[in-house]
Amino acid sequence: MSKNKVQIFDTTLRDGEQVPGCKLNTQQKLIIAERLDILGVDVIEAGFPISSPGDFTSVEAIAKLVKNATVCGLTRANQKDIEVAADALKYAKKPRIHTGIGTSDSHILYKFNSTQDKIIERAIQAVAYAKTFVEDVEFYAEDAGRTDNVYLARVLEQVIKAGATVLNIPDTTGYCLPDEYGAKIKFLKENVKGIDNVILSCHCHNDLGLATANAIAGVQNGARQIECTINGIGERAGNTALEEVVMILKQHPYLNLDTNINTKLLYSTSQLVQQSMGMVVQPNKAIIGENAFAHSSGIHQDGVIKNRETYEIIDPADVGVTESSIVLTARSGRAALAYRAKNVGYELTKIQLDDIYPQFLKFADHHKEVNDEDIHHLMELNHISKSK
Ligand code: KIV
Ligand code: ZN
Repeated sequence: MSKNKVQIFDTTLRDGEQVPGCKLNTQQKLIIAERLDILGVDVIEAGFPISSPGDFTSVEAIAKLVKNATVCGLTRANQKDIEVAADALKYAKKPRIHTGIGTSDSHILYKFNSTQDKIIERAIQAVAYAKTFVEDVEFYAEDAGRTDNVYLARVLEQVIKAGATVLNIPDTTGYCLPDEYGAKIKFLKENVKGIDNVILSCHCHNDLGLATANAIAGVQNGARQIECTINGIGERAGNTALEEVVMILKQHPYLNLDTNINTKLLYSTSQLVQQSMGMVVQPNKAIIGENAFAHSSGIHQDGVIKNRETYEIIDPADVGVTESSIVLTARSGRAALAYRAKNVGYELTKIQLDDIYPQFLKFADHHKEVNDEDIHHLMELNHISKSK
């Protein structure tokens, strides 16, 4: 059975760049956009063109540069935003305008001091106006996570009629639980007229650490686009991490969903974004963190040395990491010491290993990690020379 494609909509350069202190210049954005295109993302959200002259210039330059992906610009639901976005996207091979408005009670009341019916009118007008510039119009119902499902369905039915091609259901505040978000997508699939002619998109924030789980629940219930960022960066606690959703779909083939991403480029793309933004991810970050394939306890090291699959569900090579690492600490056993010693040139006999191991433990107890230099030193002290 052929797999269903999930489109990957990357918003590293828009939602991701909203992170304080992570501002990029146009040149840096171009390098990242080119890399995202090679990585295989389907859509690059290049920026919010009306937000500043710099953002306009970047979106325009990215639109000129990108060869394969759709290039998208964000707008609010007003004519000026849409005109400026259309202008910034005029050189794109595949342009998309991403327009929308808040639909939850708190957005309608506090942001717009408006009513549900008036918000629907504005949504229709925005989509219809965007449609006069580009064929591909994505509509976002901001704070859909906290929007009443019946009202949300009404909004979406109207914007489909106005010409929307993609419907974004953002959990803007990262509030939903996975079953709740999945049920929302299912409800929309079952209750919105015309929904089968458009793509439903998941845009989840990570305020409760659920952005990835919610996006996966969304595609399990019929959404076919995930909006995400490299390293999960983004407003507040961030967005769904691209590398996480891509690898979840790859590692669970029975879901029958896949993406166009070349996973072997995930690690290097993550490094590029970390370096450009000056934002280093935590070592235990899933998929691309420095410890994602590092084993430090004796029991785990022994298993991994015998067979990687005992403690690894992903082949590191699949995400562009050269190999798993065996980190030597006071928790390491003889197998790990022998393995690391061999890697730096010493093939130890059982007697040598039995002699050295207590010395190794003594040393390791006073150091966070035992590195290659320390191994050489230990061998020298014991008059062990390198194997031929
Ligand atoms: O989180 C959100 O609701 C957004 C929209 C502007 C798409 O980023
Ligand atoms: Zn967002």
